Order: sequence, then C-alpha cells, then structure tokens
Amino acid sequence: MATEITLQGDMRDAIARSGSVSNSTAGAKPIVELKQGEELTFQWTKQWYPVAVVEFLDPSRPHAMQLLGKDIVLWRDGSGKWRCFEDFCPHRLAPLSEGRVEADGTLLCAYHAWRFDSEGNCVSIPQSLDKQKEAKHCSNPKSCAVAFPTQECQGLLWVWSESGPQAQIESQLRTPRIVPELENDSDRVVHLFWNIRDLPYGWDFFMENVVDPAHVPVSHHGIVGNRYEDAKYYDMIQVREMSTQEGFSFEITPVAPNLKESVNDFQPPCHVKIVSTFKDGGQLILALYATPTRPGWCRHIGCQVLVKNEAGKLPKGLGFYGLPMPTWLGHVLASLFLHQDSVFLHYQEKTLAQRGKGKWLETVYTPNPQDKIR
Ligand code: FES
Ligand SMILES: [Fe+2]
Repeated sequence: MATEITLQGDMRDAIARSGSVSNSTAGAKPIVELKQGEELTFQWTKQWYPVAVVEFLDPSRPHAMQLLGKDIVLWRDGSGKWRCFEDFCPHRLAPLSEGRVEADGTLLCAYHAWRFDSEGNCVSIPQSLDKQKEAKHCSNPKSCAVAFPTQECQGLLWVWSESGPQAQIESQLRTPRIVPELENDSDRVVHLFWNIRDLPYGWDFFMENVVDPAHVPVSHHGIVGNRYEDAKYYDMIQVREMSTQEGFSFEITPVAPNLKESVNDFQPPCHVKIVSTFKDGGQLILALYATPTRPGWCRHIGCQVLVKNEAGKLPKGLGFYGLPMPTWLGHVLASLFLHQDSVFLHYQEKTLAQRGKGKWLETVYTPNPQDKIR
C-alpha cells in the first residue's frame, strides 16, 4: 500500500533543515510559499530509487540491501535482468539473499531449496509428494516472493519501492531521475565513473550537505579551498518555483573567479545535480543520489560529468575534479570527500534526534543566507 507523507512531516523537515522553507515557529514570514492541497503530498514509495551500480554487482550471487527500511535482495535472472525481491522466503521467511542464483535462472532459497522465477513465482518445492501436489502448491499466491519492478538506466539499477500489479503499471508511467546530459552521446560529454558508498547518515542530511557551498572550503580544506582564506559570504537565489513533486533549485553567488554560474538542483526523492558553468563555456556536473536505505543511513551513488565548450575544450581550472585517474583511484579519492563530511553529518543527525524532537529550528542558529534560499 502506498505510504503518503506530507510536507508537514519528514519531507518538510528535510527541506526546511536545508533552509529552503522558513518555519512559522521562528516568527518569520515564509520565504517560499508552498502550494496547498494535492501538491503537498509526496508519495515516497511510488518512486524509482537507484540502488546499485550494475557493473559493480556480482551476478553469480544475490545481494542483500535495504530500501526505505525494507530488507530487499537483488539478483540477476537467466535473461540477464536484475530483479529485486523483498528479502524473505514465503516458506519460512529465511533471507533469500542467503540463497543461490541457479543455472536455470531461478533464485533458490538455501534453507529448503524452493525456487523462484524472475517474477517471484515459486517454481519448485522439492519436498512435495508428487508433481501434481507441487504444481498446486506453487500456484498458490502464498508461495510467491514479493517482487518489485526494476530497470537499468545509465549504468544504475533502479528499484520501484512498491510491489504488485498496480506497481507494475505505475512504475512504467514514471521515469527515474536520470542525468539528461548522459543521454547525449556527443563527444563533448565526458562521463566519469560512478562512485558508490553506504554512509552513516540519512539521505536528507546528505542532501543538505551537498547543496551547502559554505562548508566546502572549510570541511574540505586542502582538497577544495582553504579554511582560513576561503570561508566567506554566500547567497543562494531561487531559480525555479519550489514544488513538492519537483523540488527546488538555486544559484550560488558569488562564484569562483573562473566560473560563470553555479546552480544546485534538488529533484525528489533523492537526486541533486550541481552544475558549475565555467567562463569558457564548459561545465562540471556533479550528479549525486542518496537513496534512503534505513534510518540513519543512506546509499550514495554519484558521478562527475564534464561538458566541453564549443571549441571542444574541457573547462580550465577543474583542479581535483579534472585529474585523469584510474577508476580505483577515483573511488579512493572520492571517499576522502565523504570522510571529511561524514563525522559532522553523523553526529549532527544524532544530536538533532536527541535535542530536536521535531523542533529542529529551535536547536540551530542559522543567521546567514547560506542556510536559506531567497
Ligand atoms: S525458508 Fe525458504 S525454502 Fe524454506
Ligand atoms: Fe562536502
């Protein structure tokens, strides 16, 4: 069944923590008026979530993970398509992620060897008295695994977080939050590798962190900027109307001397795109996802996209971002960034949970525009 969460709840808190929505309890006039009615409802389960980088998955075995607090298992069927089931066997609830991907393209539960096809139908119960009884038991809907719609897109495995016939239809009516530039096969677009990490803080803390320009030279001192020289005033100017379904976008000002503009774009449920346009016309795009896995954790998947200018040149002054490097080194270095922020975000979330008790605004002091959009 669909879970409906309104902006009075988690989502509003998350967006508001980023400073995008002012809170009336502060006595301030709302900076952005949210639309009323249907627009305030965001259906978290009727969404596509990126859960894995396909090339990093081992197709010979099932993989356990979590999505929106549910245990799920990812596995590749006989046709080569990645599937997602809820991670329990309908027989006696053993985790299917402990099972085996068999040569006939089924997923075998390693407890009593029931087998499931791509759609979750049970196709074998070896303890049955005879074939007739087995067919009867396999045709009982209670023998089915719970299957979620999946698709591969731009190198990522996406999962729709509802199951059942209705979910199959609804999932087809919605497209994942892909990176449009990656659909462009021109040689002006350079897609660097996907990076993936499970992080010990919630998706909303991730989102707030990556759209916050003020922390960059301080938290990432020595990699991007200098904490003593580069901490400064920023303003964040809204560039499109805030919407519950489509998120928000803002321009950061001032920008670095070599940049023409820098725009952060949040697209629900879990995508942020940071586009830096250089004066010479090229662009650096950080395409970032943070999939909510379980409370206090998220799975980050992200990549850099470089767009050459009309003269076919990469932007000048990319620094760290433009270094040619093998994928393994990219993973190591990307972790440097994540580690630098990780301790702040983990404890920030923990402290907020202890002290905020739903009144987050009263526990923080955010006097500058870097914490708001106007
Ligand atoms: S629990 Fe899976 S086959 Fe028994
Ligand atoms: Fe950061």
